[in-house]
Amino acid sequence: MKPVATLSILRVQDGYLFHLEYPTNSLTLRGQDIHTPSGMIGSTPLDPDLRSQLEGAIDASAEILRTLYPSSGQPSRARDPTVAAPLGRLGRLLFSLLLPSTLQDALCQLPDDLPLIVATDDTDLPWELLYDGTQYLVLKRPMGRRLLSSTPARQNPIPDRIRRSFLFITNPTGDLPQTDIEVERLVDAFDTVPEVIDARFLCRVQASKLEVLQALASGQYDVIHYSGHAKPGALLLADGELTAEDIQKALGGRPFIFLNACWSAEPAPQLPYAGLPVRSLASAFILGGASGFIGTLWPVFDVSSREFAEWFYALVLDGIPVGEALRRTRERMYRTRPGDPLWASFVLYGDPTLRIAGLERRETRPVTVLVARLSGLLPLFDALGLEAAAEIEDQVLDRLSQIARRYGGEPRGPLTDILGVRFGVPEAHEDDAERAIRTALDMVNALQAFEPPGPLAPMSPGSLALRLGISTGQVVGRQLITAQGLDYQISGDVVDRAAGLAAHAGDGEVLVDETTRRLAQAAFTFEPEGSLTIAEGTRPIVVHRVMAAKEAPPPPIPMVGRERELTRLQGWWHEAAAGHGRLVAVTGAAGVGKTRLIQGFREWLSDQEYQWITATCESYDQNTPYALLTQVISGLADISPGDNKATRRSKLEDLIRGVVPGEGPRAKEQINEGLALLGQVVGLRIPAPAVDTLEPELRQKKLASVFQAVLAHQAAQYPLVLVLEDLHWADEASLEVLNQIASAVGRMRVLLLAVHRPDWSPEPHGWTRWGHYRHLSLDELSEETRHALLARLLGVEVPPEALAEAILSRTGGNPFFIEEVVKSLQETGVLTRSDDAWVLAADPSTSSGRGLTEVPLPDRVENVILARLDQLAEPGREVLQRASVIGQEFEYRVLQEVQDEAAREELDRNLGDLTRRHFIFELGGWWPDVNYAFS
Ligand SMILES: Nc1ncnc2c1ncn2[C@@H]1O[C@H](COP(=O)(O)OP(=O)(O)OP(=O)(O)O)[C@@H](O)[C@H]1O
Ligand SMILES: [Mg+2]
Repeated sequence: MKPVATLSILRVQDGYLFHLEYPTNSLTLRGQDIHTPSGMIGSTPLDPDLRSQLEGAIDASAEILRTLYPSSGQPSRARDPTVAAPLGRLGRLLFSLLLPSTLQDALCQLPDDLPLIVATDDTDLPWELLYDGTQYLVLKRPMGRRLLSSTPARQNPIPDRIRRSFLFITNPTGDLPQTDIEVERLVDAFDTVPEVIDARFLCRVQASKLEVLQALASGQYDVIHYSGHAKPGALLLADGELTAEDIQKALGGRPFIFLNACWSAEPAPQLPYAGLPVRSLASAFILGGASGFIGTLWPVFDVSSREFAEWFYALVLDGIPVGEALRRTRERMYRTRPGDPLWASFVLYGDPTLRIAGLERRETRPVTVLVARLSGLLPLFDALGLEAAAEIEDQVLDRLSQIARRYGGEPRGPLTDILGVRFGVPEAHEDDAERAIRTALDMVNALQAFEPPGPLAPMSPGSLALRLGISTGQVVGRQLITAQGLDYQISGDVVDRAAGLAAHAGDGEVLVDETTRRLAQAAFTFEPEGSLTIAEGTRPIVVHRVMAAKEAPPPPIPMVGRERELTRLQGWWHEAAAGHGRLVAVTGAAGVGKTRLIQGFREWLSDQEYQWITATCESYDQNTPYALLTQVISGLADISPGDNKATRRSKLEDLIRGVVPGEGPRAKEQINEGLALLGQVVGLRIPAPAVDTLEPELRQKKLASVFQAVLAHQAAQYPLVLVLEDLHWADEASLEVLNQIASAVGRMRVLLLAVHRPDWSPEPHGWTRWGHYRHLSLDELSEETRHALLARLLGVEVPPEALAEAILSRTGGNPFFIEEVVKSLQETGVLTRSDDAWVLAADPSTSSGRGLTEVPLPDRVENVILARLDQLAEPGREVLQRASVIGQEFEYRVLQEVQDEAAREELDRNLGDLTRRHFIFELGGWWPDVNYAFS
């Protein structure tokens, strides 16, 4: 489940008990960061005074509803916003008198888009109306209710299908013409996504008790929509009432229910079915196993409720989660009909993050596919028999899938002896081709090292081998919402190509196609393997065999510019060397030159006495605890990857001995504790009772203090530069430890360079408050240095004006983009080598068939951009897409016009977010006449 906050409200003898739970890092209370998933409790006694205030407010609201929705005849169409004022009073009262003040604070500070679940046994109060002084909570954030009930919900099986099935039950009593229109409009809307929707209808007399009961019991539907009459605790069908109790007993499957009918979420006022626990349609459906339920707290009919349903489904069919779809629909209703409290009448039971239908996106994008074939199974079956061999096969494929997941791949299958893994969907990483190759090489190693555990241990799977193929290419991807959740389907020939390569590979071999090789050439070495025809009638493809991971990247060209930044680094170095340690956040967009600057700094440092440790976070190691810290500690102890356990242990011991003086038993004990703590991080399990029994939190604290001591000791000998590269991909556990150290480096001879992109910030970690904190922000290269860089890349003094213009207009001042565009011009033959320089081919159109400006964006550039896009939430992505239709620059006003109404509300928030993440920047002007441009 996605992150949500849960507010539990329990009715007790003389009042209410509350418990608010919210996810990690979502809340800043009075300037204090709360980093653990956390919660708070509170209670409110319900004294007679409060009780009578609440009752008064509820009566006043009931009165207003009575005038707005008379029990007979047409409801009055109130346009006057003050009519609904009692609802606001009730909401304020519920919030300020009933909720304890700490919870009020916390609720106000939770991020606006964090869904809130109200888990309660008191379904009588309209919790949706909680009003925090600025707005109703339910208009701010997706909100859903959960029943706190003693009866567990029935877990009906979820049907397995890709298309979603809708059932409409409409106008059983034949007297609601608007519901006929409702169903027509919904059918029209569903026609736009025929690949994901099936619909069936029970209209008017067809909606008999028997028919409806059978449909409910069939378990065949994902969504059941009812528009007709209801009363608390029953639906009015063509031939009589269908009670909540019948529904709860009959319901099959896990349908989402929308009852667009009066009072459909209200408990029955008195218990007509004495002694039975089922009081409301809502609880009947939820306890019967429904995945969610929308009903109403008071009468709704007429045009607005019809429109409400239409707007809601339009959003749901776009793939928007039900809670957010309901919120946007409410908001639209609230804005357009201020006097009509219909928006507040609807209640959602269930998980607001649930998606029930839709094609979320359809797009063309690059994907890398790895196909692994397990060979040698037959001899294994022969030797071990069916059961044992199948067991081994399962374990092997399991292990291989784990490896794929570690690198962010998505394993598909396995189909007997074939495992497919996709990289880059649904989320792109800038290095998907490299990840696929790393996965392949790790898989080969893992199979060699594989030992079946337990009773199978003596049986050797030695005959098994892997043959691997990797292909990268453009596919059309479609994200569907299915009964099982999100499913990303791709169509394109990459899968066939990867399978063809795997079929052609020898045991333990990894074959890749040309695109994969090009993308990964910086990190791996390859050997040509000729060409291969994958299928009859297709062109042969060029094949390469993966040899090994490259040791170090090729030496970069001399650095241009950055004099000012270097000077500042040098200043901080001098301060650190004198004992005033500095913690420097080096920040800048992908490819702007952070790493190059640090290299430049190290070149400058070369004639001084210094120690240097670099630890680099990998995007695929974000979920590996201590991935970053392992490198730092290995660096301090001088442990290299090839060291065996004994060497690692003795190096670690040398490191720790430095900070534990003396020889006695106490010293021995301390050394052992230090070994246990640091050992755990570098893959050594050293038992130490004093450490092993510690709570994880204390253990981490202790680890941090040992680490701090050895770092300070090491730096006391020679000043030390500690570079933490790509901190935006750091794992949580390392960050927690490093944060404790970061606060203390001010007293060490340490220059800690924390290198990160702008989507990470040191602010929440409290760094900016410390006196030894410094900030170094890298912008794009200046006009002059861009030209200088280009000149160096081309090997000329001054690049020809037209060429410079053509390249720099596409890349701006981002050195990575400049390098990549030059590379792709060289590879496509637009640039050719003449003596020591690269010049335009005499006639670019004849040499390559393409002109200077037609060469497409290099893959590696596209991957970086895609990976950033995939980090954006859907609304941000939408805004960006629409803006890009307008052009390189766009006006706020124009953008506002092309947004749909609901999204317009959030436009400001999204634009702020996009600016912060450097997708766009403000060109100037006063709101609302602001102009923006793409970065
Ligand atoms: N000032 C410069 N002079 C010459 N080359 C540069 C300069 N800055 C960056 N480059 C080159 O541009 C490429 C990208 O730079 P670099 O790897 O330092 O970017 P980065 O900011 O570290 O990006 P990332 O966030 O992806 O790590 C590298 O090949 C680097 O050598
Ligand atoms: Mg870098």
